[in-house]
Amino acid sequence: MEIISNYPLKDLNTFGISAYAKEFVQVTTIAGLAETLRENTGKKLFILGGGSNMLLTRDIDALVIQIGLKGKEVVWEDEEHVHIKSMAGENWHEFVLYCIDKGYGGIENLSLIPGNVGTTPIQNIGAYGIEIKDIFVSCEAMEIATQQVRTFTKEECEFAYRESIFKGPLKNRYIITSVTFRLTKVHHKINTSYGDIAAELAKQGITVPTIKDVSNAVTAIRQSKLPDPKELGNSGSFFKNPVITAEEFEKAYLQHPQMPHYTVSDTMVKVPAGWLIEQSGFKGKRFGDAGVHAKQALVIVNYGNATGQELLELSKKIQETVFKNFGINIEAEVNII
Ligand code: EPU
Repeated sequence: MEIISNYPLKDLNTFGISAYAKEFVQVTTIAGLAETLRENTGKKLFILGGGSNMLLTRDIDALVIQIGLKGKEVVWEDEEHVHIKSMAGENWHEFVLYCIDKGYGGIENLSLIPGNVGTTPIQNIGAYGIEIKDIFVSCEAMEIATQQVRTFTKEECEFAYRESIFKGPLKNRYIITSVTFRLTKVHHKINTSYGDIAAELAKQGITVPTIKDVSNAVTAIRQSKLPDPKELGNSGSFFKNPVITAEEFEKAYLQHPQMPHYTVSDTMVKVPAGWLIEQSGFKGKRFGDAGVHAKQALVIVNYGNATGQELLELSKKIQETVFKNFGINIEAEVNII
């Protein structure tokens, strides 16, 4: 494994921010990963997947290890279900398309999400009514300190909305090396509960959708609302949708009775951050090369040469204005480095 000094990261983060790694190495085997960790004990490390969920506000003064582990295999199946294991470095959307092509269902609503398979459990990615936790069986992860690989069950991952144990107590302690998913071979549970999907299928005149139809519909919706990182730097939703107490919600709702909201539990309510940001006047606004996407206010974009600091400042301005207007805190979903 060749370690390269002063390595440019512009093409390795979907925001397209120009920053450098003090050192960089790509690993393609488990043995290579273990060896790299062993030989660089004591060094500051930074683990990089698809670079689709981070905002680089500075150079990385560490050894950046990019996880390039590839491969996928069926590890168990019966008549109705299949457990398919994918190595962490596989591109997520290519994996989704591979599964759909094989006729495996349950993953189609998660089409076109940027990033790699290995990072999907970290923030329990979700879209259009499905989260990773709904199809997750287990993942394997290497402990950085010992290079031991262990298996985490779904329960052990402590999944919640855009959260898992890997973002919490185990942050920076493990590297996910593979993930195993449980998908259906027959009797697919087509989930078109999300209004946008139903509308897109109706538009296409499809009444009995296949998993491929749902994947195509999700892809069309995402393409219409979310910018393609290859054309316009971005990291998907920049903020999480705030989940607030019923009392907090009542207070804000009295002032703003048009506020969309979803009941999460008896005591908690989720409010779409995109709405709060749009109502605060930021949708489609541009400040130099940093901006808010015109079709989805939850997405911050880099028009070319914005620095991480400029994008961070814009995000703070949005947070402050939303708080001033609604008394609601919105938290970043992306990792700010
Ligand atoms: N809205 C606005 N203005 C906007 C955007 C949204 O008013 O500019 C309001 C509308 O009321 C709309 C509602 O927000 O009905 C929901 O919007 P949308 O369906 O676009 O979903 P979202 O809540 O903004 C979440 C995820 C997305 C995911 C979509 C679809 C989070 C942080 N984001 O966005 O995930 O694709 O649902 O399921 O939960 C991502 O995480 O990177 C991501 C793109």
